[in-house]
Amino acid sequence: MAEARRPATIRSVDPAGHLIARRRAFRTRLLGWYRGAGRDLPWRRTRDPYAILVSEVMLQQTQVATVIPYYSEWLRRFPSFARLAAASESDVLHAWQGLGYYARARNLHATAKAVAGTDTGTFPDSVAQMRNLPGLGRYTANAIATFAFGKSVPIVEANIGRLLSRLSNSELPIDSAAGAKLVWNVAGALVPKHDAHTFNSALMDLGAVICGARQPKCGMCPVRQFCRGVDPARLPLKRERAATKMLTEHHRFTIESGQLLLEQSQDRWRGMWILPRLREAPSREKPLYRSEFPFTHHRITLTVYRGVPVSTAPAHSWFPLESLETLPLPSPHRRAVSYLIARDRQNLCSARAAS
Ligand code: ADE
Repeated sequence: MAEARRPATIRSVDPAGHLIARRRAFRTRLLGWYRGAGRDLPWRRTRDPYAILVSEVMLQQTQVATVIPYYSEWLRRFPSFARLAAASESDVLHAWQGLGYYARARNLHATAKAVAGTDTGTFPDSVAQMRNLPGLGRYTANAIATFAFGKSVPIVEANIGRLLSRLSNSELPIDSAAGAKLVWNVAGALVPKHDAHTFNSALMDLGAVICGARQPKCGMCPVRQFCRGVDPARLPLKRERAATKMLTEHHRFTIESGQLLLEQSQDRWRGMWILPRLREAPSREKPLYRSEFPFTHHRITLTVYRGVPVSTAPAHSWFPLESLETLPLPSPHRRAVSYLIARDRQNLCSARAAS
């Protein structure tokens, strides 16, 4: 049976008109492929909105393979909105440690508190209500609506955005308002009324597995007859990026009587523990440790100098070395601390052997 036409939608997504006009055939090809080649991902085995929210927030800036162990461990530590709401910020940041972009963990914590604070303590099933929760944008709200509640709503994350840009041969930058509007409109016109969650998972997997960022496997693509991509590997286009800025930051490594001095970050890693900062590089001292790491539009060189026990600032605290595992430390600082503690131990052993 022919589907009702959606003329307004079709007009507004003209580059994909060919695809939308044949959407039933497109879905059939896509779903046939997905039945044999779809990925078995842990968050696809649940309809719990909490677990799906956790997975989607983790997947926002992190690859699937990295997320899987964090997702399982997170659900073990915080199995529900209520348990997450009751956790301390330090425990939440500790569980997120290594995933980066810690605002995601803070927003998830705030969402759990908001949900736990409602009359029913349950997560809403309407997209409009979800959007009132902290950190829930259009993508995340629609992903929960489709994966947890089976609603017929479109989703566009990086894989689907890339796939739809190529199918439409869109030259609009995907991170521009016009480029985003185009792919969301196409996704909206393609999503079926029934079993939208399978269709959305299939689109995502086709983008991830076949229509990959670097080398699309067009020869194996089940929907290639619908594709207008002329040079698909070139798409999607992106707006020009802000140039990367180089920064050097200086810190102290101070150990006394088996305790390490740390500072609680008030800015970049708010709430996490870092090696105490120095305003500038000490003159005539050589750093004990140097590393580089990326942070948003920056490339940061971290240098660490031997610390002399000094009067401590209010944000400073001493921690026994055995307790460090339980503290939230950002990855660049955890690596520096592990290296420097191991180095001190080795120096101590060599000094003992020599005496
Ligand atoms: N990226 C964003 N959401 C995802 C999901 N649910 N499964 C796989 N990759 C994703």
